[in-house]
Amino acid sequence: MKTLIIIRPDAVIRGLVGEIITRFEKHGIRIAGLKIMHLARKQAEELYKQHKGQPFYDRLIQNMTANPSVFVVLDTDVLDRESAIALVRKIIGDTDPAKAEMGTIRGDFGLRIDQNIIHASDSRESAEREIPLFFKKEELQTYKE
Ligand code: CMP
Repeated sequence: MKTLIIIRPDAVIRGLVGEIITRFEKHGIRIAGLKIMHLARKQAEELYKQHKGQPFYDRLIQNMTANPSVFVVLDTDVLDRESAIALVRKIIGDTDPAKAEMGTIRGDFGLRIDQNIIHASDSRESAEREIPLFFKKEELQTYKE
């Protein structure tokens, strides 16, 4: 199974890209796709369309379009299928950095919820919607055991 993480602009600016990717690689999760892009407003609005109308929406779009982000498709086939998304989200930690456990990415590096340092697809369905927003099929790699 494949899922998407986005290393958001604040993490890119702070030089945390390598550190964040390393955490997934240490669990045996492989990189299927990788690119750096400066999101246009339209792309950020499409990604976060379910949050439209929330009080934090405008700040979220502004934050996502301020600087480049790093887009990573993770190949979780090495993991148990049912628990793959849950493990990825556990490595990342709670959305609110104040609630995220130490040892998680957000617990260790997060500063503010509205400038979250990493986004992750929250279900198989959202991964299937979000990955094609940023990657063509032929840009994604597969691995032989
Ligand atoms: P992300 O995981 O990228 O997905 C949605 C984003 O909305 C989230 O990170 C936060 O940056 C932002 N967000 C979610 N809830 C709140 C909130 N209560 N206050 C401010 N920002 C939020």
